[in-house]
Amino acid sequence: MQKLIVNGGQRLRGELALQGSKNSALPIMAAALLSGEECVLKNCPKLTDVFAASRILNCVGCKCTFSGNTAVISSENVSENTIPEELMREMRSSIIFLGAMLGRTGECTVCCPGGCELGPRPIDMHLAALKKMGADIKESFGRIICRVPGRAHGARISLPFPSVGATENIILCAVTAEGETVINNAAREPEICDLCGFLRACGAEISGDGESRIVISGKDRLHGCEYSIMPDRIAGATYLCMTAAAGGEIILTNACVQAMEPFLSVLEQTGCSIYTTENRIFLRSGSRLKAVSDRIRTMPHPGFPTDAQAVIMSALVTADGTSVFEENIFDCRYRHTDALVKMGADIQVLGKIAVIKGVEKLYGANVEATDLRGGAAMVSAALAAEGKTEISGISHIDRGYEKVEEAVRRLGGSIKRV
Ligand code: UD1
Repeated sequence: MQKLIVNGGQRLRGELALQGSKNSALPIMAAALLSGEECVLKNCPKLTDVFAASRILNCVGCKCTFSGNTAVISSENVSENTIPEELMREMRSSIIFLGAMLGRTGECTVCCPGGCELGPRPIDMHLAALKKMGADIKESFGRIICRVPGRAHGARISLPFPSVGATENIILCAVTAEGETVINNAAREPEICDLCGFLRACGAEISGDGESRIVISGKDRLHGCEYSIMPDRIAGATYLCMTAAAGGEIILTNACVQAMEPFLSVLEQTGCSIYTTENRIFLRSGSRLKAVSDRIRTMPHPGFPTDAQAVIMSALVTADGTSVFEENIFDCRYRHTDALVKMGADIQVLGKIAVIKGVEKLYGANVEATDLRGGAAMVSAALAAEGKTEISGISHIDRGYEKVEEAVRRLGGSIKRV
């Protein structure tokens, strides 16, 4: 089993080009299924989740190959309608293939994604919306069998919560459905806009993405395209937090500054100097960070992103004063706090609230990553800590960060994979 060994206490300094976004790449790879032609995806991050999506594409009869950070997906043939359980379990977000498969072949069998590291992740909104679009859905022995007799049709759908995955599944099914689909209370995440940008490049007709009301007019056919995936705002937040926590200076290039504003406005309150241009972020962390006085509430975009909660916490554990978090998106998203406490942090968790009293110092320890962003927070805390930290469970980190140890070494951090 692989581990990361981090020797903390060194300031970070350097320039880093941000990887492509995982949360864009996955739905866009599913969307490529709908084109029926060849799609070339540039800036595609090489991550275990992306490779899992590529295995799903190959399994249903498409051809997905990589050359550096370019993925080429040929979807002329789709010969299989079942996504095997082992592939579904590899990556919970494989559920976004459901809408794309229904749009392409009218049929798809998947297994229930079940719970995950962040707690139960139901798909009731996905299924209710697809039913409204004409899908007949049967659940039997953990399998979900979906069929659309004929072609899916447009529908007016109001989501009870702006779920990212449900919004994506509806869009994927709607772009080739008959008629118009309207999604009210749609997710407004930048990755939704990226998915729609890709689909428009394939000939789809979509408006309103980035707003709460998205309108999609179904087309008979889409076509292939070449598209560049947006930069990863959460990886960006992570490398900024690492520098804020350890002290130092970083220039992020290829950054999606606008998409990161809700995060940057909170990070700035820690006293770091932050300067931005259209696609670059410069951060300097000099003296001890300040606690964030306003409660950090995770909310759907444009609120503070739940995916950045753990990494900013890793910087605030040594800030001067008390910071309070309120996690509103997932039930079990404080699992990283045990590791931070083991390293010397003072954190009290009560339900969705976490109270962080800043300590002077963290100390290296043996810790285990239990989820993707929690694992990244441990790397960040380890860089700021005195002494050696061994992090196990790093397959979680590899799901979302392309060669994290190389990126950290480029910034001058002492880290190795063993
Ligand atoms: C996506 C992101 C994930 C991010 C999350 C919230 C990807 C691959 N993953 O996950 O990184 O943390 O958005 O920004 O893009 N829910 C239901 N029923 C449903 C669907 C969702 O109850 O049918 C609940 C979930 O359990 C969760 C909340 O809604 O509590 C938000 O989930 P959702 O926005 O769907 O997140 P994901 O798409 O799974």
